[in-house]
Amino acid sequence: MSHRVLSGIRATGQLHLGNYLGAIKGMIELQNNPGYETFYMVADAHTITTPFSVNELRQNKGEIIIDYLAAGLNPEKSTLFIQSQINEHFELAFYFSSVTTIARMMHLPTYKDKVKQYPKHNTMALLNYPILMAADILLYKADLVPVGIDQEPHLEVTREIARKMNQIYKTNFPEPKRFATKSEYIPSLTGEGKMSKSVEGSYINLTDSIDEIRKKIRAVPTASIAGGPIIGGIKTLFMLSEIFLPKKIYEEFKEKYYSQTLKFIELKDALTEAIYQELKPFQEKRKQIASDLAYVEKVIKEGVQKAKIVAQETLKEVKEKMGLN
Ligand code: TRP
Repeated sequence: MSHRVLSGIRATGQLHLGNYLGAIKGMIELQNNPGYETFYMVADAHTITTPFSVNELRQNKGEIIIDYLAAGLNPEKSTLFIQSQINEHFELAFYFSSVTTIARMMHLPTYKDKVKQYPKHNTMALLNYPILMAADILLYKADLVPVGIDQEPHLEVTREIARKMNQIYKTNFPEPKRFATKSEYIPSLTGEGKMSKSVEGSYINLTDSIDEIRKKIRAVPTASIAGGPIIGGIKTLFMLSEIFLPKKIYEEFKEKYYSQTLKFIELKDALTEAIYQELKPFQEKRKQIASDLAYVEKVIKEGVQKAKIVAQETLKEVKEKMGLN
């Protein structure tokens, strides 16, 4: 049997460089490997687990599909769909909640962080977030999940659910593993933590113009003592340079840093140009796709149809094994 892959991105607006390098690159790599059957969705129902705007959600889910297509996901090879258009996700999540304790869910760092961030939004949907994610993955019996490292706790929950279901009900769910990309940890432009949508000034959007990128990169804080330890904003600059600049140029900048002859503005402008060159083809393709919404609709419709066939099959098996039909 060929291996299956599933991944998704929450519909929370524009994608940034961290999403691209941490998840989308892995999604493309697996799509282009003939040993895998790939399913990529927009996790629109996960979006409602934290405060959201109805109009933005309506708009954003289509935008993510456009981003997928512009980044190189190919509907001939990958099944692209929207989570909430396949009811089976929610039904399976409910069955999975019967083998998952409340205590286990309350202990997850991702849950605690969100409660801290939105203390008035400590909802059942938020607590159920990892169960729905497990259902997303196991509905397709995916054994490989290209996502950022911050999702590892959710994959651990997914494996536990698979194991319990298999033990108790004799299902045959795989225990999925995370597929990591080479550059999965993208540091924040602020010099602290990772690039994140929820931290202003920390990220570069995939649709940023060269001027916007330059402005953001120039604002990365750098220490006044050149040649010191590589930490904070300097670390961010070097990590991004290692990813985006040719190796030789990256090493020259580093040597200059240690010999205290580096002008940060030169490093910053070289990095700006390199990031923009990487994003330019994406941006051009995105414009072209966004002007043909009928095509985007067609991709979604066909993707939902294909995904639904697998989803119904899994659900039928689970219901039979659980004595539900
Ligand atoms: N929780 C994921 C994130 O924030 C999004 C997601 C939802 C997902 N369902 C998934 C990722 C299933 C992989 C597989 O990035």
